[in-house]
Amino acid sequence: MAEPSEKLTAIAEKLQIGQFHRHVLLCVGDACCAEIGKDGAQAAWDRLKGELKDRGLSLATGPTACYRTKVGCMRICTGGPILVVYPEGTWYAGMTADRISRFVQEHLIDGNPIEEWIFARNPLPSDCETSARSHG
Ligand code: FES
Repeated sequence: MAEPSEKLTAIAEKLQIGQFHRHVLLCVGDACCAEIGKDGAQAAWDRLKGELKDRGLSLATGPTACYRTKVGCMRICTGGPILVVYPEGTWYAGMTADRISRFVQEHLIDGNPIEEWIFARNPLPSDCETSARSHG
């Protein structure tokens, strides 16, 4: 495989990839967002982007630095918008626009996941755990 191009490296640097402590993925796909429709799904995404920006979480400094990605499907396909937070691997359902502000404050800023909206968990192993396993 070819080496990454300088263009890609420059884009990654511009986006400050390498500085983030969390990654939030929000699914706005038709299947999981059937109840709220495309407009409702887009509203949730717009609110997430706005909250992260307004509260300084998208600036990639400090422990609350958070990258965001809008996705088309995470294979759940009901009860959306589905939202996942890594590295803790917290899976949320029903993340409509009206829930985003509380989510950003309580989970991303205060570090307290909102239990009543969570339907699954899959924390990722740390680098040390992964390394130990692959070399063990
Ligand atoms: S469409 Fe959202 S999980 Fe499949």
